[in-house]
Amino acid sequence: MKQVAFSVICVILGLAKRVGARVLIASTSEVYGDPNEHPQTETYWGHVNPIGPRACYDEGKRVAETLSYAYMRQEGVSVRVARIFNTFGPRMHMNDGRVVSNFILQALQNDSITIYGSGKQTRSFQYVSDLVDGLVALMASNYTQPINIGNPVEHTIEEFALIIKDLVGTKSKIVELAAVEDDPQRRRPDITRAKIYLNWEPKIPLAEGLKKTILYFAKELQRTKHSQKTSFMQPSYKNDHDIVEQL
Ligand SMILES: NC(=O)c1ccc[n+]([C@@H]2O[C@H](COP(=O)([O-])OP(=O)(O)OC[C@H]3O[C@@H](n4cnc5c(N)ncnc54)[C@H](O)[C@@H]3O)[C@@H](O)[C@H]2O)c1
Repeated sequence: MKQVAFSVICVILGLAKRVGARVLIASTSEVYGDPNEHPQTETYWGHVNPIGPRACYDEGKRVAETLSYAYMRQEGVSVRVARIFNTFGPRMHMNDGRVVSNFILQALQNDSITIYGSGKQTRSFQYVSDLVDGLVALMASNYTQPINIGNPVEHTIEEFALIIKDLVGTKSKIVELAAVEDDPQRRRPDITRAKIYLNWEPKIPLAEGLKKTILYFAKELQRTKHSQKTSFMQPSYKNDHDIVEQL
């Protein structure tokens, strides 16, 4: 992964130099690793385990930033670097394995909601349209330093499970599983830079974004079930209103 990130980013930056294009680096809060500074500002250099299970992804993103600034300094390439925090919304892959899709699918199916570890670790979730607005503003700006794009409202994963359980209205139990190795314990963006230089801050509250995402997953589940059933069976949901009623 690190090798691929290195090779691909060199090709992209070389191409941008030739054609005079501006490059958007979709970096990540993972560059901060398991942070010992909280909330995370862009001046924090991070606390990444270089040989752990997340290392290829984390170091791949870090080297992408490194190469981008080297190309900017030496070759004059125009780069914009967004450090994207946890993002969710409709059209996420149902089985991407991340917490938002896992919890919503479990809740919709009345399965147990499984928390890795104690659930005391925190994350800050932003809705996808806020991220898109932030990226557009960044590309249109003259700001060349890295910039956090995320929603600073922070929740423990345990709270997050309860919020989803409540919004779905499920009977799911919440159960604890083994913790994940090198799981960052706290994540919350300091978005002062984005406010000052991009005039950007997130607009969509967590519950509003989650309702839209839950509706999307409910439809996806229904669609998957239909494709597995014989054609004479009637769908139990007919339209968005029915699905919301069921939620
Ligand atoms: N949409 C996105 O947010 C997005 C998109 C592309 C890449 N990524 C990358 O994916 C990684 C996400 O890492 P992360 O740990 O913040 O997100 P995550 O969604 O995998 O996990 C968030 C937290 O929830 C916890 N958790 C508890 N129970 C869980 C369960 N049943 N299933 C999944 N997680 C559970 C995890 O241990 C972790 O502490 C990062 O490397 C990020 O850059 C994220």
